[in-house]
Amino acid sequence: MRTVTLINGDGIGPEISKAVVDIIKASGLEIDWDVQTAGADVIEKEGTPLPQRVLDSIKRNKVALKAPVTTPIGKGFRSVNVQLRKDLDLYANLRPCKNLPNVKTRFENVDIVVVRENTEDLYAGIERQVDADTAESIKIITRKASDRICRFAFDYAVKNGRKEVCCVTKANIMKLSDGLFLDTYRNVAKDYPQIKQREILVDNLCMQLVQNPSFDVLVLPNLYGDIVSDLCAGLIGGLGVAQGANIGLDYAVFEPVHGSAPDIKGQNKANPTALLLSAIEMLRYIGENTYADKIEKALFRTFEKGICTVDLGGTASTDEFSDAVVANM
Ligand code: NAI
Repeated sequence: MRTVTLINGDGIGPEISKAVVDIIKASGLEIDWDVQTAGADVIEKEGTPLPQRVLDSIKRNKVALKAPVTTPIGKGFRSVNVQLRKDLDLYANLRPCKNLPNVKTRFENVDIVVVRENTEDLYAGIERQVDADTAESIKIITRKASDRICRFAFDYAVKNGRKEVCCVTKANIMKLSDGLFLDTYRNVAKDYPQIKQREILVDNLCMQLVQNPSFDVLVLPNLYGDIVSDLCAGLIGGLGVAQGANIGLDYAVFEPVHGSAPDIKGQNKANPTALLLSAIEMLRYIGENTYADKIEKALFRTFEKGICTVDLGGTASTDEFSDAVVANM
């Protein structure tokens, strides 16, 4: 039996984790969940939102499913997510954005995969106050990090039958930093002649995404990736359905895009779909494709029958939605 770390989070985390664990169990797949608490709820007892035991568990099991955790504001703790990405060198942030059946959105047939570089760019956190009225942030782009994220995007395209990888930069203005990212992309692309190349400036991309979102795989430096992946989440129905994964050479953490939603905590209202889709992608990552397909079909059938949670305009509670997915298996 495969052991997977489960960080069940706080806020709505435990509610949606329970739903997802129940659905996976109902599929017939047995997973030994190594449950690890993290976030705001453990600070008092353990002095940190990300105790070492959580990192040790992921290092042992190589794969984790993570529900959202609250980052306490102004208490000097680093975000659990940022720290996990850094400590485990999870350099690729993968966000597939695909329309779900019967979930009404502005466009049909959106099927975009956003591949965001996760370790550098303005997120390197190198900032200084020059004087009282001036602050400065430094944007770091290296060939090494650009090369591995571009390779990740092309490899993903090959493995998943995708046709095109589009490189997104602002290289006309940031000629050195974004220029280096683009140059690296062009070099990597030479190793993948079967995949179409495309280059676009980030401002033009945003306009096209809201007018005609016909893109395939996008590869972007960290900051553009952050913004564009939220835009793409909006194209398919918003936070309740937006899945994600942080992947490195040795470890992978699958998690929804949304946060711990304290405003609806404990109300049995949260949509478990984003965590479920993240879990389905995790099952594919560990080679459990048959179960992943089975659960995905049951999820789609549930939407086709018009059953959905309040955030998508429905009336189902978290439990009712999860039970419906199980019933549709
Ligand atoms: P949020 O994503 O938690 O909530 C934004 C809005 O979307 C809220 O109205 C919420 O009710 C709704 N929402 C989110 N997920 C939903 C779901 N599954 N079903 C139905 N409605 C849903 O963002 P917010 O409020 O900015 O952050 C709350 C906390 O979460 C913060 O402490 C933040 O740091 C943390 N956070 C954690 C993340 C993670 O663990 N990966 C990611 C983003 C935020």
